[in-house]
Amino acid sequence: MKIAVNTGGGDAPGLNAVIRGIVLAAHQKGWEVYGIKYGYRGLIDTKQIVRLTPESVWDITDIGGTILGTAIKGDPFKYAVNQPDGSVVETDISDIIVSNFKALGFDALIAIGGDGSLRIANKFLKKGMPIIGVPKTIDNDISCTDATFGFDTAVNIATEAIDRLHTTARSHDRVMVVEVMGRYVGWIALHSGISGSADVILIPEIPFDIDKVCNKIRQLALMGRDYAIVVVAEGAKPVGGEITIAEGKQPGGSEVRLGGIGRKVREEIGKKTGKETRDIVLGHLQRGGAPTTFDRLLSLRFGTAAVRLVEAGKFGMMAAVRSTEIIAVPIEEAIGQMKSVPLDSDIVLTARSMGISFGD
Ligand code: F6P
Repeated sequence: MKIAVNTGGGDAPGLNAVIRGIVLAAHQKGWEVYGIKYGYRGLIDTKQIVRLTPESVWDITDIGGTILGTAIKGDPFKYAVNQPDGSVVETDISDIIVSNFKALGFDALIAIGGDGSLRIANKFLKKGMPIIGVPKTIDNDISCTDATFGFDTAVNIATEAIDRLHTTARSHDRVMVVEVMGRYVGWIALHSGISGSADVILIPEIPFDIDKVCNKIRQLALMGRDYAIVVVAEGAKPVGGEITIAEGKQPGGSEVRLGGIGRKVREEIGKKTGKETRDIVLGHLQRGGAPTTFDRLLSLRFGTAAVRLVEAGKFGMMAAVRSTEIIAVPIEEAIGQMKSVPLDSDIVLTARSMGISFGD
């Protein structure tokens, strides 16, 4: 067997561990593994395909990012092609990918990626490519799996950052507003906010009223606590308002870039309460560095499971975790719906029971 593997979308801690799991498990079976560099780019310019041997993955479990490189603007169904007049036109080059994949004699592609990459994988499945998916994202927004690798690391980094911000908040009697990633869901904000003892957590699933946020800060002051920590998910929005967009969709990309809500919330709090306020955007720090033990193990389990799925010929399936077991779910189902925070979930109730405000 000759297996191809690629990583698509934003990098996430654990990608290299998945690659290691795949390469070692395939090697045990006497199969060959090839890395397609930069998402699908290596299947356009096939010089960017590298043989992956056990030696190539010896020491990579603890290394963040991806040894294969990744692409966020590499959707082959709307590939950004530069025109002679300087403009960029989105072009469907998926047939070139399919025919190069076949010509190179690959038996399967293991596509490691988030929602966007799995959607692309699903389109290639429909064109007859034998694909197995592995769910990656720090956002934790992929359905049909309890967890995605990268999330635990991002939450740990965000929690540590929030812990450190307590120092300045307390010393200066300030309101510190921390904007965390998560795209259209509030998982990172919720998990890190609760664990980091935030007073207010704003998530996309619960539109907020800034006056209620300010009331919470005033209540804390009445109790003798003149500082506050407000964690804001980048996708949070006010009641009746819109998500804050940092940059519109780029040619070849599938998503707008979110960002800026933390600053807006900080300005409003400052104006309405008269308190000294600061905002911090954690940004890509949340995706950097070594994966946690949880993410390493999950990644290695996903990688080896993907190879078993290839062996079983279960193309179109994605490795997933349900409770303590690794299972297989259809990619089509996993991309059908975004996994957002259920409002009646224990994690939301935990926050409410402790008096944490969602600004609602
Ligand atoms: O999906 C992962 C993620 O980090 C989101 O949380 C964030 O909105 C986005 O990617 C940032 O993308 P980029 O790396 O393109 O700035």
